[in-house]
Amino acid sequence: MVNLHESWWIGAVQIPTRVVLAPMAGVSVQAFRRQGRRYGAGLVCSEMVSCAGLEHRNERTLDYLRVARDEHPLAIQIFGSEPRVMAEAARMVEAAGADLVDVNFGCPVRKVTKTGAGATLLEDPVRAARIVETVAGAVSVPVSVKMRRGLEDGSRACLDLGPRLVDAGAASLTLHPRSARQMYTGEADHALTAELVQLVDVPVVASGDVVSHAKAREVLATTGAAAVMVGRAAQGNPWAVAEILKGGAGEPSREEVVAELLLFVRETVRELGEQRATGFLKKFYGWYLCHGRFPKPFKQELLQLRTIAEVEQRLLIAAPGAEELLERLEEDHTAGEEVLLEGLPISVYGGG
Ligand SMILES: Cc1cc2nc3c(=O)[nH]c(=O)nc-3n(C[C@H](O)[C@H](O)[C@H](O)COP(=O)(O)O)c2cc1C
Repeated sequence: MVNLHESWWIGAVQIPTRVVLAPMAGVSVQAFRRQGRRYGAGLVCSEMVSCAGLEHRNERTLDYLRVARDEHPLAIQIFGSEPRVMAEAARMVEAAGADLVDVNFGCPVRKVTKTGAGATLLEDPVRAARIVETVAGAVSVPVSVKMRRGLEDGSRACLDLGPRLVDAGAASLTLHPRSARQMYTGEADHALTAELVQLVDVPVVASGDVVSHAKAREVLATTGAAAVMVGRAAQGNPWAVAEILKGGAGEPSREEVVAELLLFVRETVRELGEQRATGFLKKFYGWYLCHGRFPKPFKQELLQLRTIAEVEQRLLIAAPGAEELLERLEEDHTAGEEVLLEGLPISVYGGG
């Protein structure tokens, strides 16, 4: 019987539960990661960060290196194709305070694969191993790798690559067993995850289609993976993280939904600035308010509003009791707020 509350280790980093919050581009902002930790994720991860962007000291890319005290343990994920550039990026990630450097060998998006990064590396094992070796040699924190199964449907490239990456210094592997071509269609084939677990002596994290406590237990039991990763199920739905961890969690009340959404909105405005946050947050309104929690026209109404202040006002009219809950959440959060900008060392800005 697998206990999801049991801690486990990646190198010297202790992970308190067996639920990992997935890295998701355009989603995994600091508010998402901190929320994930509050609801029981043992490890959270940034979205993928461009090594070229870090090399050129791109201001927006550097923003991804902001680490809050209450996020730990935290992985920051990097993508790129040049071992030297990736090693330098990994050093910046370590200096920013991340507990792990995660390397992306899974991104299927053409903009990334055409540069030789992401999923392309699944079919270029020599370069992939050189990247891991160089990155692992550059930092003292553990280096993990996130992969898909391969480029084409039915590919088993990850089974050849995985052990090579471990030999090169990977302290953990995450497998999302879909091909790059599949994107998010079909099902994640966790029979492949079970095969990978047999081939390596480092913890393997199973990613893909884990949406419930029952599914998490099934995946852990049938694959021997050390942990499950939760992605889409957690979008606008931290309660899913708690359910996956513990089972039996009920649907949140409207007040709870609105309070969490408002906290998320406020934190994201602080992180991205109001202008960027206004557009960024729109998809989250739909995610929070679906699951039959609010009628569809209400979501449409929110999307029409121009300012964050109007959104806040409208949400509080719909669920007045949320204000008190929000106050309590914000009080608990105060300690974290003070450190929102901490962890971004001056040296990181030094070149730019
Ligand atoms: C919107 C979105 C963005 C994603 N971005 C990343 C990313 O930056 N890095 C990464 O390794 N995987 C990324 N993924 C893949 C997820 O981490 C995860 O492996 C995948 O969604 C399968 O898990 P799920 O079924 O729990 O969603 C992304 C997925 C989604 C839906």
